[in-house]
Amino acid sequence: MSPNGGGVATLTAEIRALKAERRALIIAHNYQRPEIQDLADVVADSLRMARRATESDAPVIVVCGVHFMAETAAIANPTKRVLIPDPGAGCSLADTIQAADVRRWRAEHADGLVVAYVNTSAAVKAEADYCCTSGNAVAVIAALPLGVPVLFLPDFFLGNYLRKITGREIEVWLGECHVHAALTPRIIEQRRAEYPDAEFLVHPECGCVTSALYYAEADGDVAAGRTRIVSTEQMMTRARTSPARRFVVATETGVLHRLRRENPEKQFVAAAETAECRYMKMITLENLRDSLRDLKHEVTVPPEIAARARRAIDRMLAIG
Ligand code: 13P
Ligand code: SF4
Repeated sequence: MSPNGGGVATLTAEIRALKAERRALIIAHNYQRPEIQDLADVVADSLRMARRATESDAPVIVVCGVHFMAETAAIANPTKRVLIPDPGAGCSLADTIQAADVRRWRAEHADGLVVAYVNTSAAVKAEADYCCTSGNAVAVIAALPLGVPVLFLPDFFLGNYLRKITGREIEVWLGECHVHAALTPRIIEQRRAEYPDAEFLVHPECGCVTSALYYAEADGDVAAGRTRIVSTEQMMTRARTSPARRFVVATETGVLHRLRRENPEKQFVAAAETAECRYMKMITLENLRDSLRDLKHEVTVPPEIAARARRAIDRMLAIG
């Protein structure tokens, strides 16, 4: 029983009724609580969330995720009402960079290009040339013209990984996600020893990403397909298609719900059970119900910022 508003079944029924009444679309991220994932219309990574938001004709979109995800939906749908059940659901990675930081870099690199990871505020995206997500970052960097200075922001681990994979000289911002940074090379080494038969699904924001790639290459794991550096949605696809029976999953533990539900015959082990994003977990059945009932909390982006941020998002969607 929840402290302020009924059991899971009652709340779920209330939410379904309100959703129908409001003709709302509920988009949830793969890190959301299981009960939120189970009643969402779409459960996805940041890239698919952004795409679904642009395709929707629902008058109300509720984003069960963190604030930048709701902003992206609002930018894509200026005439619709975009809600987030808890406006305090932020992102420690997005908070590591402000629009003024990007403007300073631009002032020193007049011909430079800025690629902003989707985990940024709308104000930062408005200063960028391209947006990208973990699902298409390699394709976006590979599509940039050669011979110009490039700044990738704000994730240091993902940026370093992009440098290695694309061979491009990229300046990388020194931001990190506290959840993924804590997934260190040592943790992966321990899991490799514990589960020598497992396939490793590693999110590119992880502190272990470069070494995972290094060891994996050294042992031939990448060639053999035993280590994949992938977005949360690509983890779903890989788990479905891989012949492996056991997987170690290096990212926020919310992904395990869908992985297990969609692949009941396979085993999924968290790289670390402690890898939990407190911001993602701020969305609950209670505040989702309240959000639909009271049409709160609406997320809006000033039109001038939205227009510039949309340019960077559209460029990303055109690439992949
Ligand atoms: P994905 O785009 O892979 O879902 O990742 C989003 C995120 O916030 C990672 O921490
Ligand atoms: Fe942000 Fe990290 Fe949470 Fe993802 S897991 S939303 S990057 S704080």
